[in-house]
Order: sequence, then C-alpha cells, then structure tokens
Amino acid sequence: MKKLLCSALAVAVASLVLTGCGGDSKQIIRLSHSQIETHPDHIGALAFKQVVESKLGDQFEVQIFPNATLGSNEKVVELIKQGSVQYLVVSTANLESFDKLYSLFSIPYLFTSEAAFNKFISDPKVLEQLGVNSKTDGFTPVTAYTAGTRNFYSKTPIRTVADIQGKKFRVQAGPVNVAMMQAFGGAATPMSFGEVYSALQQSVIDGAENNELALTDQKHGEICKYYTYDLHQMCPDLLIASNTFLDKLTPEQRAVFDEAAAASQKAEFDAWNKAVADAKQKATEMGVEFITVDVNEFRNKVLPLHEQLLAETPALKPLYDAATAANNAQ
Ligand code: GCU
Repeated sequence: MKKLLCSALAVAVASLVLTGCGGDSKQIIRLSHSQIETHPDHIGALAFKQVVESKLGDQFEVQIFPNATLGSNEKVVELIKQGSVQYLVVSTANLESFDKLYSLFSIPYLFTSEAAFNKFISDPKVLEQLGVNSKTDGFTPVTAYTAGTRNFYSKTPIRTVADIQGKKFRVQAGPVNVAMMQAFGGAATPMSFGEVYSALQQSVIDGAENNELALTDQKHGEICKYYTYDLHQMCPDLLIASNTFLDKLTPEQRAVFDEAAAASQKAEFDAWNKAVADAKQKATEMGVEFITVDVNEFRNKVLPLHEQLLAETPALKPLYDAATAANNAQ
C-alpha cells in the first residue's frame, strides 16, 4: 500500500512538473517500464513515441519512464487500471493475479523453440484471445515483445536438477512459478524485479531466473557466476494500455496508437538478438560461466504440471492448444 501511494505520488509530481513547464494543451501519455535505457523494451518504447508524435504530435506527447521510476510493474498495473498511467511494459507473470489467462506463459516448457514462441506472440489472434477479459481487467494488451528464454542462474553451478535441491530462487510473482520451483525441488521466493540484486547480495536468495540481460543490465552477474541454459520458460513482455485512456480515443486516434504499438514490437524484436549477444559477451567478461545441460532432465521434472494447470484453469486450453500448434508448425 505504501509503495502504491509512492507510485501515485511520483505520477502526481510528474504531472505538476509538466503543467509547470508545458503550458500547451497536449495530452501527456505516460509509458512505464522497468528496464534500463539500452534494453530492447526501451527501444520499442522509443519507436512507439516516434510514431505517435510524428502523426499526432499536436495532440499527444509520450513520456517514457524507464527503470521502474513510477513503481514496480505490479504497482503500476494498478495505476493503469486507475488511468493515471496510460501504457506499461509488463511481463505476463505480473498480470496473473489480475487475470488467470496470462498464466499461460508461466507454464514451464510450453514452447519447444524460441521460433515457435516468437511466432505465437506475434499473432494478433493470440493477443485478442489473451485480452478477451479486458473490459473487466481494466487494461488491454496491445502488443507483445520477446523476452527470450528464462534460465536459472546462481552463486553455485546448476548442472543437473539435483543442484536446485533445497536452494532458494527468486521467481516472478504468481502461483505457477511457485509450483514450478517446487517441482524442481527448490524453494520459490517471489519478489519484484528491482529487489533481486539486493536479495542476492544479502543472501536472501541463492539465485534467480531470467534472460541473459538481467546479468548485465541489472548487474546480477556481479553476484551469480553460473548461468544454466535449462530453458524453462518463455514469457513475453506485453505492452498494455489503460482502458480509461483507450476508451476516450476516436477511431482515427486509436488507429495511430495501434500502428505505434506494432512499430514498437518490430523495433523491440529487431533489437533482441544483438542485446542477448552483447549481454553474453559482457557477462563472460564479468566471469559468468554459461552452462549447457540435458534440458530433457529438467523438462521431465515439471511436465506433469501441464495437466495439473490446465485442470485448475480450463480457460487456458484454447491458448494452450494454439501454443502446441505453433510448436508443431516449426
Ligand atoms: C524480464 C522481463 C521483465 C520482468 C523481469 C522479471 O526482464 O523483461 O518484464 O519484469 O524479467 O523477472 O521481473
């Protein structure tokens, strides 16, 4: 609650500053994300801003707030619902507590290749299905960004599933992640992205799981020297919009914002592979060892979760089947 108030205050302060030096009648669009300014999500956000302002610059100004300056993603979702922030780049895992459909991507080993995952999240029909409850959710997913594959990294090497036994790993919020860690034999400690570095430093956790960029952008590689390619999840970042905002747009304005979302997706995807290659090189220089493992050993441990999760949330089945079809098409 305290954090939520702080986030609301940050937005209020930002608004005051704007009124103070603005003076024109442009509507300010706030786009929040939790990454640094070289991250592909930020590059996507810049492309979004460019399209909106080149086409509707007399009416709108897009302000990008990186580094979770408006608050952690979990908190900013609330501000999106209230309408004080208009856009947010957020991992699907952070949306699970608002709408179970988003837990689809937390199912470990849902995709058999990154190509299948990328194809799936780029499909407008998938986005439509994910957003089917958007009226009640208060936000709408407008495009998806890739976030690569999520892998374990820790202070001690993980070469087999047994190496996870009894260790504490930070996971993104959500019951599916907790179930996954239990199935692997470890303990899950859900917390916000921005809290992970100090939790590692203070040994509250033994490791975490993410794509390679977390090692360098978030400096987790300063503490965790072993990164294991077990490939357990592929979770997209979604660009979500506040319905309060979208509902006020004319169809012409909406078309521009949708075009901007599509351009941002392209820019983000285009930046991804190089960002991963750069992060791997930099992390290697930091002394991080990249470990390859028998992925099937890891997959077999958690595969029973698929049936269990589908039984718990039958609404996931059509999207789950579509993901399986995307796998088979590769
Ligand atoms: C990735 C993802 C973020 C997410 C983060 C996390 O970096 O791009 O959206 O918040 O993982 O693990 O919390």
